[in-house]
Amino acid sequence: MTATPPAGSDQQRRIEDELVRTVLASFRDTPDPRLKEVMEALVRNLHAFIREVRLTETEWEHAIAFLTAAGHLTTDRRQEFVLLSDVLGASMQTVNVNQEATADATEATVLGPFFVDGSPEIPLGGDMASDAPGEPCWVEGIVTDTDGNPVPGARLEVWEADEDGLYDVQYDDDRLAGRAHLFTDDQGGYTFWGLTPTPYPIPHDGPVGVLLDRTGRSPMRASHLHFKAIAPGLRTLVTHIFVDGDELLPSDAVFGVKQSLVKRFERQPAGTPAPDGRALAGRSWSRVRFDIVLPKASAAEGDDPVAVRA
Ligand code: BEZ
Ligand code: FE
Repeated sequence: MTATPPAGSDQQRRIEDELVRTVLASFRDTPDPRLKEVMEALVRNLHAFIREVRLTETEWEHAIAFLTAAGHLTTDRRQEFVLLSDVLGASMQTVNVNQEATADATEATVLGPFFVDGSPEIPLGGDMASDAPGEPCWVEGIVTDTDGNPVPGARLEVWEADEDGLYDVQYDDDRLAGRAHLFTDDQGGYTFWGLTPTPYPIPHDGPVGVLLDRTGRSPMRASHLHFKAIAPGLRTLVTHIFVDGDELLPSDAVFGVKQSLVKRFERQPAGTPAPDGRALAGRSWSRVRFDIVLPKASAAEGDDPVAVRA
């Protein structure tokens, strides 16, 4: 092997610059202009990273082994690459870039790996928890557009972990619990029963878990309840609400917390009558209000295919 010239020499810099130029030129004839733009930026930034840290060949081998392990673990039920994107803040930054916060619309956050198409429909006031264990939580709100007009018939997908910190899809028994969809009423209002959210760790038994461990980071997510709001002519919103006072808010493992999404979950002692008269068998419960404001969809976005009631 020829000796590598020292990083700082002019000759070395010329060799490295030349390679960047050559790789960029290889994309010169890419017919799709957007693909060309993305690949060129990727090459520029990747090479800048390698040069900045003076990546060793051993480190490069570790990186390839890490990605290989992530690939081997990934199935249609376990997505280690999404998890990697999440813990690096790349998922959240992609949300930010695509959902420029209009001051008057509800803020978005990460989708996470546990949304599943085909959730059961519940009526207004229905129970999305089904048999999932946890403290009942009454959730209510209204969906409006940014002009303040109520949005009747908006589809709300809601999903959350049980009090043991697991989503239904993380169990081996094909259970369906802690997820549902419902539609807003004529005034844009909605109500449903869920569970008071509790904190849980993201899956950390794979390479991403090793990364968190080696960097002294916690896998814990702040307690939250997921929402996806879909309505014709309006931008689909993917978000969650977080629990005011949760000590994990500042250290959420996937950087998903936005202050506007932190809500007061008012705890109700056992014996407090439920808003809809539900018999709660002497259990405590909580209640939260979450009003959702959806901006207009841009022409390019069009309607989400599931926006309309089946
Ligand atoms: C979740 O909220 O369900 C989640 C988000 C990102 C990574 C893992 C889990
Ligand atoms: Fe979650």
